[in-house]
Amino acid sequence: MDLNVRPPLHAALDRRLPGRHPASHDPAARHLPESSVTDITLIAAIGQQGQLGLRGELPWKSNWGHAYRADLWRFRETTTGGVLIAGYRTIQGLWGLDGTHDRDLVEDDLRWSPDEIAARIAKRWPERPVFVIGGAKTYRRWLDTVTAFDVTRLPYDGEADVHAEFLLPHVTLEVAA
Ligand SMILES: NC(=O)c1ccc[n+]([C@@H]2O[C@H](COP(=O)([O-])OP(=O)(O)OC[C@H]3O[C@@H](n4cnc5c(N)ncnc54)[C@H](OP(=O)(O)O)[C@@H]3O)[C@@H](O)[C@H]2O)c1
Repeated sequence: MDLNVRPPLHAALDRRLPGRHPASHDPAARHLPESSVTDITLIAAIGQQGQLGLRGELPWKSNWGHAYRADLWRFRETTTGGVLIAGYRTIQGLWGLDGTHDRDLVEDDLRWSPDEIAARIAKRWPERPVFVIGGAKTYRRWLDTVTAFDVTRLPYDGEADVHAEFLLPHVTLEVAA
């Protein structure tokens, strides 16, 4: 199966993932292990009820309260130097992060399994921390592959059109209003 990613993602993926073909067709990748070969952290910020997104953005985007600014700062600090895996919808607004703070952004290409993507990342960047940064559909797809959770629950209790209530049992940090 050939890659058929529309530009600019085609160039971005080619640049980032070793091998242009899925593992089954890539001789160099055939020897990669079936399972994930690296530690992968799912990092997310959710509202009180698991709110995750609103109209393609963070639901609390225009809230400049301390809790929200601190969360963005913490995300930057935590992911510095990392490889960030993001879903198609999320990555559209995030390409600006690529290359900042020594981070590389990789699209969660649905034609490959999480294990195949993880194996390629581990081969390309063996020493780098890896993060799955959303959105909801991407978190769900990677839920059984990730090895750690970094889930912050923010005081937000408003509107959302994307929810990730399945992350509520994995909250690692509760932030007070
Ligand atoms: N609070 C947080 O920490 C956080 C983190 C990241 C993102 N977010 C928010 O989460 C929301 C996005 O999450 P999401 O679950 O909707 O999506 P997503 O996980 O970002 O993107 C994955 C989905 O995009 C669609 N897709 C994949 N390839 C595509 C293509 N080539 N063309 C068109 N669509 C394609 C598929 O959904 P279909 O099968 O439905 O087409 C796929 O499951 C945004 O509001 C974002 O701001 C929040």
